[in-house]
Amino acid sequence: MKPILNIDNITMKFGSLVANENVSFTIHDNEIVSLIGPNGAGKTTLFNCITGFYKPFSGKVTYMDKDITGWTSYDVCKLGITRTFQIVKTLKEMTVEENIMTGAFLHTKKRIESQKIAEEVMELTDLTRKKNIKGGSLTIVDKKRVEIARALATRPKILMLDECMAGLNQTEIKDVMNLCLKLKDSGLSLLIVEHIMEAIMPISDNIVVLNAGKKIAEGPPEEIVDNDEVIKAYLGDKYHAKSKKH
Ligand SMILES: Nc1ncnc2c1ncn2[C@@H]1O[C@H](COP(=O)(O)OP(=O)(O)OP(=O)(O)O)[C@@H](O)[C@H]1O
Ligand SMILES: [Mg+2]
Repeated sequence: MKPILNIDNITMKFGSLVANENVSFTIHDNEIVSLIGPNGAGKTTLFNCITGFYKPFSGKVTYMDKDITGWTSYDVCKLGITRTFQIVKTLKEMTVEENIMTGAFLHTKKRIESQKIAEEVMELTDLTRKKNIKGGSLTIVDKKRVEIARALATRPKILMLDECMAGLNQTEIKDVMNLCLKLKDSGLSLLIVEHIMEAIMPISDNIVVLNAGKKIAEGPPEEIVDNDEVIKAYLGDKYHAKSKKH
């Protein structure tokens, strides 16, 4: 598999607090990578460093052969890396369709073209029936769907999802898992931050574990669930025991 995004020794500090410390890993073409770890481990900070919301203190982010460290979020998105936000940012006064069109306007100035892209994406994310509902009136699950749909409308090569399954019920989680696999099949790579292990273990090709800003493990899901340091820092014995039973 071809490497497409290289995170190389990223360090990010807030005053004396080191939120990311020399974090390195690679995302390959057509791969689902999950970033896990306890609250405050530095997952969202790393998303912000990759997508231009923060300029890392040191280290390098390379997309294909381009050094994109410190690029603006707009330019990173234009290049093909799009993220969603842990706290959804639905545009309340706009309809679902208009929310999604804002993403499509990244590549076109024509309303009709952006509408066409929004239609495609709404079909994929099961939002077509709700296209005329205002963002502010949506349920949390639909707000999360719109968040993913708007990101997809920018036509990314890498989609980064920050806890897009939190607060969803089992069926809704299953829908998002299927959507992730469908997107992978269509050629995308995904970087997923998630606390729901039952959801990400089955769909991830590779898992990166952060704890207190540092990468403590990386590997396929079956290795990660058996990693003693990961169990101690995050998964806990309960999960370990469960994984052993199967
Ligand atoms: N803008 C900021 N200013 C100061 N400290 C920050 C800032 N953003 C994050 N931090 C701190 O950096 C550390 C990492 O936070 P981050 O939000 O990246 O964690 P996380 O892994 O995403 O956690 P969670 O699972 O709760 O979302 C925390 O100690 C947090 O308080
Ligand atoms: Mg976070």
